[in-house]
This record gives sequence, structure tokens and C-alpha cells, in this order.
Amino acid sequence: MCGIVGYTGSAQAAPVLLDGLRRLEYRGYDSAGVVVQTGDELKMVKASGSVAHLAELTGGGRSLEGVCGLAHTRWATHGAPTDTNAHPHLSEHGLFAVVHNGIIENFAALRSEQEAEGIVFRSETDTEVVAHLLEKYYDGDLKRAVMRTASRLEGSYVLGVVCSKEPGKLFCVKEAGPLILGLGVGENYFASDVTALVARTKNVIYMDDGELAELTAERVTVYDRTGREITKTVSHVVWDIEAAEKGGYEHFMLKEIMEQPRAVKSTIDLRIRGGRIAFEDFSLTPEELKGFDKIVITACGSAYHAGVVGKYVIEALCRVSVEVELASELRYRDPIIDGHTLLIVVSQSGETADTIAAMRECMARGAKCLAIVNVVGSTIARLADNVIYTHAGPEIAVATTKGYTTQLAALYLFAVWCAERLGRLDEARYAELVDSLRALPSLVQRAIDLNLHARYLAERWHGQKSLFFIGRNIDYAAAMEGSLKLKEISYIHSEAYAAGELKHGTIALIDEKRLVVALCCQERLFDKMVSNIQEVKARGAKVLGLAIEGNRRIFAEADDVLYAPRGEQLFAALPEIVPLQLFAYYVARENGCDIDKPRNLAKSVTVE
Ligand code: M6R
Repeated sequence: MCGIVGYTGSAQAAPVLLDGLRRLEYRGYDSAGVVVQTGDELKMVKASGSVAHLAELTGGGRSLEGVCGLAHTRWATHGAPTDTNAHPHLSEHGLFAVVHNGIIENFAALRSEQEAEGIVFRSETDTEVVAHLLEKYYDGDLKRAVMRTASRLEGSYVLGVVCSKEPGKLFCVKEAGPLILGLGVGENYFASDVTALVARTKNVIYMDDGELAELTAERVTVYDRTGREITKTVSHVVWDIEAAEKGGYEHFMLKEIMEQPRAVKSTIDLRIRGGRIAFEDFSLTPEELKGFDKIVITACGSAYHAGVVGKYVIEALCRVSVEVELASELRYRDPIIDGHTLLIVVSQSGETADTIAAMRECMARGAKCLAIVNVVGSTIARLADNVIYTHAGPEIAVATTKGYTTQLAALYLFAVWCAERLGRLDEARYAELVDSLRALPSLVQRAIDLNLHARYLAERWHGQKSLFFIGRNIDYAAAMEGSLKLKEISYIHSEAYAAGELKHGTIALIDEKRLVVALCCQERLFDKMVSNIQEVKARGAKVLGLAIEGNRRIFAEADDVLYAPRGEQLFAALPEIVPLQLFAYYVARENGCDIDKPRNLAKSVTVE
């Protein structure tokens, strides 16, 4: 949940580190810090607040001399976001500085042990114990000290380490959580995400759990858990730094909403060849596919909502039973999962801790795993048996938009591919569905164009204290995502409800102050939705209707209207989420919220 970056080379380190840190701020933004090695000293500046604040304190990093260092942006887990709890953390005599992403689960025991040895702690963090262990085990051999320290730690962690007595040298260790090495010319880097590196190098190494790396300006050496040197594959990042910049938009979120036609197109086009969906890289045989008695989809947050949509679509097309479960619940159950289960894991980052744990649990029980992931080389992508990459490009705003819609596109591709392989589709319907998939990028563009008035609706409705999103069938699944989008960036309470369920209790909350967003895009259920709209209007609620373009009846029912373009009804969740994204964005903007970095959140939830 934090971002870390390390640099060693011949340039002044701190400005490079701060630039990298700025690009990692989506991972955590309650405090930040930087440390550089200069002579035989470590110089550190850290403070609560943003990376911009840290840059102010250090003159953009220029006040810190030195060509080797570490930086960190924090999402607090242990200890409040104060100056002292900000990373890096120094060892007792200042020999070591450490930055950390993750949780050291046995930190309390280690802290008691160190306090008994007379060490006085400066922070409340779990990380500080690491700095003290390093100093304790250092006898002139840095690698040995790092390995001995790592062997004492339990939990999930990525660590960056610098020592005042080892000029130009950095170590990093990975035990769950993302860590990428960047290979430059006469300079090398590590970071939590390629976005921090891509302005300086596109040649990267994805580290695996249990590995550590030693970096100097000239050389990068990777070791396994036993300290044996290993050879790693060097990958080439295919996108440019512009993809991770705002490109003239006021917020990353708006830019990412507008990028959706292209992102959905890349996701779909790369998998359609000669009119057929192609997953030739899958290891799933037709026999295996027929042998699955159920599909389990697991994920968190918006990725879970994509999974709920996936259930409707896969069951409708494949006639296979699909269960969708939150990864944080699935991981602690005793689920009925075996070799006849196909597990679908959905994750933008590929690093979500609960999703990884649920995936491991299900795979240990024999399930085959298909992962739908955006970040190339991420943990989930590497653990899965098969991967569909979503090709959304880097998503920086904490609230996902193109990440979610490309997940839907991937699930639709899979559903149609699987249905055809199971013999559930005749050629005509298959061709029709493939055409409908190919039409999705232009429908997303149409959804943007149709709803530019969302900003005016936001002006009218931004003062709401609490909202309901209601829908039926796929509209209900889309309502879950629409509701989350609004609440996470505008801090307005909102709930998604199955429209038919409202009268079983929740309608007690409806009064004349309430705005109800009614999703009415499943046309065969339109009349049912009209009844639900009338129920809430009879109790004084105002209604913002979302209907298919050209539907005029909605004007008679709703106070205001958003539109989704007409297309294949099974795939409606994808274009229909766009107006809800725009509405959420403009409401949050009206309310002056920090849209790209909402309070208390982080983009990638790598802790439980
Ligand atoms: O990286 P993942 O897709 O695994 O992330 C899952 C959720 O943490 C994520 O979708 C979260 O709910 C977003 N804030 C939603 O906008």
C-alpha cells in the first residue's frame, strides 16, 4: 500500500527519487520521505503530507547531495501518519535506512526483544525493527545482514535498504508485494511499479517472492532466498511515460474515463482474429473446459463488481454455474473447490493481497486459475495458469474506471469464447456476439458523448447526503460499481440495491430528501423498474434515471436522465457505467474532493 523507489548512479539521487515517488503517490499519500547516502552519512528528510510537500522541504531534492538513496510514500498501517512514522526509518546508530511496503506481522515480538536490548524506538511503525536488525547483523557483509534480517521477519514485505558504510550500494528484498528493478546505463533503480521507472528506463526485471537484489551504478545482481545468484529475464515496457501523465486533463480520473474507448479496443482487438476469439496461449483443452462443473470468480472492490457482471454473462451464454465471492471472504472459508472448478481471478493491479491469498487457497485445492489482470508481470499474472491481460495502460487515479471496463471486456471475451467451445452457440449468434464485442469501443465513446451534461446534473445533486442506486439483473451489478464510484471519490454515502429488494426493508430510508439513481438499461425489465421508481417517488424521492438512448418513457418517470447507447443487452454494463463514472467525477469535483487521491484509500491494497 506504500510506494518505494531506490536509485544508484551518477546523477543527484534525490530529484530522481522524488520524481519516481510522485508517480507512485497513488499507492499511498499520507506522508513521504527520502534518504541519500553522502560521504559516510545518511541524510534524511521526511514529513507527513504529500510528495509535493516533501519536494518543497528539499528544494525538489536539490538540497540533498548524494548519488544513491531511497524514497517512500506511505499509506499508514502501524502508527498515525506523522513525521516520525513516515519512512525511511533509521537504525539505532544511523548506519542503516529502510523503506518498507507491507506488514511485518511479528514486529511486536521483535520490538520487545530489541527494547530489552536497550534500543529506544523513535516511531510506532512495524518497520523500525528492520533497521535495528540490520545494524545488529551487519559485520561488514551487507548481503549477509540483509539475509539474516529477512530470515527473522514474518509477514508481507518489500524492503529497500541503504547503509552509510556501503557507498553506492542498495539492497531490496521481496516477500509479497510488487518490486521491479530498472536497468539503466551507469545507473540502476528499483520501485513498486514501472510507472516510477519508465521515464528513465524501459528495461525491467520483475522480482519474485523470496528474492533479493543488490544494486550498484554498474551492476544488478539478484539472489534467491538461499543467497545463490540467479539469472532473471529482462522485460521491455511497451508504453511511454505520457501514458502516466495527465495530458492536459484536470485529473487522472477524467483522463482515464476518456481513454476507455481505446483501452477497451486494445483489450478486445488483440483477442479477435479473422472474426474469431483467439486464446491460443491458454493451456485449457476443450476436454478440461467441459470437465468443469462450476466457475468461481473472486476479486475485491470494483474487480469484484466486474465479477458479478461476469456471472450474469457467463451463466447466460455458457449455462455453467458461476459463483462470485469477495476474496477477503473466500480466503477464510472452507470452500467447495476442487479440480473440477475453474477459478477466475480479476485484478487491475495483480497485487491485491486478499485476492492473491484466495487464489492460492483455491489453487491448492486443485482449481485451475484464469487471471484477468492489467499489470504485466504482477504476482497474480505470474501465479495463474492462464492470463487475459486487459491492456488498459497505467491507471493512476485511485478510483478505477478503465481498469473496470477492460475487465468487463475480458470477461465478455471469455464468456463468448467458452460458450462457443462448449457448443452453446450457433454460428450466427457467435458472429453476432463477436460483432457486438467489436462495437463496444464505439459504444463507450458514444456513452461519453451522450452524457457530457453529467456535469450539470452534478451541480444540481452534489449536495446529497445519501443516495441509492437501484437496478435489476446486469443493471444491479452495474449499480454496485456506480455506487462505489460515487462514494469513494465524493464521500457521499451511497448504497446499491436490487430494485426488487428495496421494499423488504430498505424502503424505510426513502424520503423526500433522497436521490435514487435508477438503472433501467435491461429493457425486458424496464416496466419492473418503472414500478420501483414509482414506489420511491411515492415516498418523495427524486430519481435520476439511466436508460437506453432513445427511450422516451424514462422522461415521464425520472427527474433527470442519463443515457447509455444501444447495443447487445448482455454487454450493457460496460457502456452504462460510463455516465455513472462521469456523474461521480463531477459530483466529487463540485464538492472540492481530492479526486485522484481520495482520503484513506490507496490504489493497490497489498495488505490484508
Ligand atoms: O487492483 P485490484 O483490481 O485487485 O483492486 C481491487 C480493489 O482494491 C479496487 O477495485 C478498488 O475497489 C478501487 N478503489 C475501486 O475504484
